[in-house]
Amino acid sequence: MAKLGVNVDHVATIRQARGIDEPDPVYAAMIAEEAGASCITIHLREDRRHIQDRDLYILKKIVKTKLNLEMGLFEDVIKVAMDVLPHNITIVPERRQELTTEGGLDVVKYFDDVKKYVEEFKSKGITVSLFIDPDDDQIKASKETGAQFVELHTGKYADAKTEEEEKAELDRLIKASETVLNVGLGLNAGHGLNYRNVVPVARINGMNELNIGHSIVAKAVFVGFKEAVKEMVYLVRGY
Ligand code: PXP
Repeated sequence: MAKLGVNVDHVATIRQARGIDEPDPVYAAMIAEEAGASCITIHLREDRRHIQDRDLYILKKIVKTKLNLEMGLFEDVIKVAMDVLPHNITIVPERRQELTTEGGLDVVKYFDDVKKYVEEFKSKGITVSLFIDPDDDQIKASKETGAQFVELHTGKYADAKTEEEEKAELDRLIKASETVLNVGLGLNAGHGLNYRNVVPVARINGMNELNIGHSIVAKAVFVGFKEAVKEMVYLVRGY
């Protein structure tokens, strides 16, 4: 059964819109864990548009499950990460102009750099995951970096406009997942998953964990954060 990692970035997005201290993503993380999340995920972006360094430091102290830090390979972010030492790091591509992470990390192209940082993070006892497109070459290169997990980018599946397109993208994720397991990597997935499209991805053979943020925060506006997480846990775990 798959597990749910809750991404609390967009609680911080609301806070930053006012530049004050609420709503607090730290409080959201505590509620998410109470509601059955198995991991708390945050993305410390280079421009600090939502999560702040302070959030990361506090979360490392209080998270009871596992703290997964998504990050691009920027010098100042790496420095903070090496000071905090989260349980997991997921290396993601990051561009300032984007609204959210678009596309997976090109591990084939940036192999040497990625491998260097995977080794550095692992040497500090951090589990490393690479956020990649569901593509065999990227999966094989990821394995060669020494990373223990990949997170398959589900954005194309989530953005599919027709049933045929959605089915084709799901098939692509299923095939890529087989490759992930065959090469001996752990299998996570995420991006754009919501209450309507999550179940087929959660049921993929060997799926370990899904990282979901925006749809949970969106639902929380109407039903509360705890209820929104509980409903997603139910869909992801299947009970
Ligand atoms: N996984 C990764 C690597 C991401 O970058 C994001 C977005 O921050 C997510 C999962 C969560 O995506 P969403 O907010 O669309 O659920």
